[in-house]
Amino acid sequence: MRSRSSRPLVGVGVMTAVIALIGVGTGEAQTAQRTPVTFTRDVAPIFQEKCEACHRPESIAPMSLRTFEEARPWARSIRARVETREMPPWHVDRTIGIQKFKNDRSLTDAQIATVVAWVDQGAMQGDPKDMPPAREWPAGQGWNYAALFGQTEPDLIVRNQPWTMKAGQGNTWFKRLVEVGLSEPRWVRAIEVRPGTVKGRKITHHANVDIDQVEPDGTVTSGRFMEWAVGKEGELLRPNTGRLVMPNAKISWDVHYASADEDITDAVEMGLYFYPKGQEPKYRQMLVSVGSVGAALDIPPNSIVAHQGFFVLQKAARIESMQPHMHLRGKAQSLEAILPTGQTIMLSHVDRFTFNWHNSYIYADDVAPLLPKGTVLKATSWHDNTSANKSNPDPNTWVGYGDRTVDEMNHIWMGITYLDEADYLAELELRRSRLSQQQ
Ligand code: HEC
Repeated sequence: MRSRSSRPLVGVGVMTAVIALIGVGTGEAQTAQRTPVTFTRDVAPIFQEKCEACHRPESIAPMSLRTFEEARPWARSIRARVETREMPPWHVDRTIGIQKFKNDRSLTDAQIATVVAWVDQGAMQGDPKDMPPAREWPAGQGWNYAALFGQTEPDLIVRNQPWTMKAGQGNTWFKRLVEVGLSEPRWVRAIEVRPGTVKGRKITHHANVDIDQVEPDGTVTSGRFMEWAVGKEGELLRPNTGRLVMPNAKISWDVHYASADEDITDAVEMGLYFYPKGQEPKYRQMLVSVGSVGAALDIPPNSIVAHQGFFVLQKAARIESMQPHMHLRGKAQSLEAILPTGQTIMLSHVDRFTFNWHNSYIYADDVAPLLPKGTVLKATSWHDNTSANKSNPDPNTWVGYGDRTVDEMNHIWMGITYLDEADYLAELELRRSRLSQQQ
């Protein structure tokens, strides 16, 4: 499903309204702060909302930020990371493209200003009575979406076989085939992948989950089902949209383990949440790799280069999500839509790609791009193979396509739902009318 070169655009413009449907960033010029800014009144609510998911005991971040005592020693570092938008990890450019996401964990400009002012004013505690009640988190390593469906865990958990990384052992790719074990076809509405243990988080960098199965029409398919990497909470499918798992399905795991300073054994697990039996969603969502130039990837030493790849939508579609994928030299990635009219629209630009954080940017319902048949998706990937790139292990070497972290890739994982023409037009109309109501 990859297309390497641009194809001539066929078909002349059918629709023009897409651009109006894409929200433009709402710059929030707020600086007003109460003086003095205190931890208990001003900062703790922000940390509860935007940091504790990772910065609490037994989660992935190095320190907990739940209390003043825990946060105070980190004040300087917090200021630096927050001001540069390195924390929370969220790397999409805020000045261009779609700005409304379902899973946005970034800070608003006002929140950044508050945190910075708190540190600049001496990182004071404030009145303990102002402290909000502690936020409750699931015990151990709770499943992210279970509560959403009124459950304590997913409907089905498929575990990979365990693997032990020896202390100091280099990067390892662990590949296994595991039966899903269903007795009938089921439609999936949410998927989570995670290391099986808290310690496992230290070594599990990313996991590709492919599914091999016999489709209802008898064809045998093997395709990407889920892609997980550190920082990704899971995939939540839109209402009436699902991924299909057949009874004979096998999961093909490919887990990338990084080295640690102690022996760690872990088994990655995938949690599936199903639509109730008998409820069949109308649309099947696909996860598609867009933009890879494969072996044509050519990154000379001491240089910054860009590659472009293209993907033609054979049917009208709604774009659900985009997740950049590059390795250590990855610098930035953008996704544009070239409409059949020739008009080009920037959908998203990830300007500060960071290999440690593979975020999937899930578009909010009212802005997820609706694109007509024949639209060309254009993915541009920049690699920085100079010494200015802090993650670069060696700027003096040529880099090409490959699996290893020191090789490169340049694709975007995209959640795509193909729509039939009638539904596409209906959804477009709905957006138009909402938009005109707002004006
Ligand atoms: C998705 C998980 C996640 C979220 C959300 C998150 N962090 Fe982090 N944070 C991490 C991880 C993991 C590290 C260590 C690796 C790294 O530095 O990237 C880290 C590192 C840091 C550091 C650097 C610590 C040091 O060694 O100096 C600071 C400071 C920090 N985070 C502050 C914050 C603040 C403040 C927030 C909320 C506004 C936040 N983080 C939100 C996961 C997260």
